[in-house]
Amino acid sequence: MVANTSMGRFSAHSNGLGKLVAVEGGKDVPFQIRRIYYIYEVPPDQWRGFHSHRDLHQALICVHGSVTIRTMIPGQKEDILLDDPSKVLFIGPMVWREMYQFSEGAVLLVLADHYYTESDYIRSLDQYMKEAIPFWTETDKR
Ligand code: TYD
Repeated sequence: MVANTSMGRFSAHSNGLGKLVAVEGGKDVPFQIRRIYYIYEVPPDQWRGFHSHRDLHQALICVHGSVTIRTMIPGQKEDILLDDPSKVLFIGPMVWREMYQFSEGAVLLVLADHYYTESDYIRSLDQYMKEAIPFWTETDKR
């Protein structure tokens, strides 16, 4: 996988009445959760994202439907399908991401370790490459 990204799977409690997944900060996700948000009613063929964060750690879970997440750092790229509420994609700092192929009714839940801070975003690909090339050539950051 692209550096600073990984996949995980939550265990679902299943008792014949349906399934339940519990997510505890510092246990099921490797950070304390300060913020959650969710993305839904995305029109067909709409792409979102197109940014990186400088410091933020996030966990992405598609709790209904499916969505594809494109992750990228200089020289590495991967498309990841989230199509199961027990699947989680962790994305750390300095990874460019794009989200696309939202199925009808898809709901993408995101857990984050910091409050919303616009200055943590890099929203231009040019600026991302300027910061990411030196960042990713220092091997201790991987
Ligand atoms: P943005 O991060 O650009 O969404 P995406 O990357 O999915 O396309 O956020 C969309 C809008 O929502 C933008 O105006 C900022 C606002 N926003 C908040 O106010 N708080 C948040 O926690 C997030 C993630 C976004």
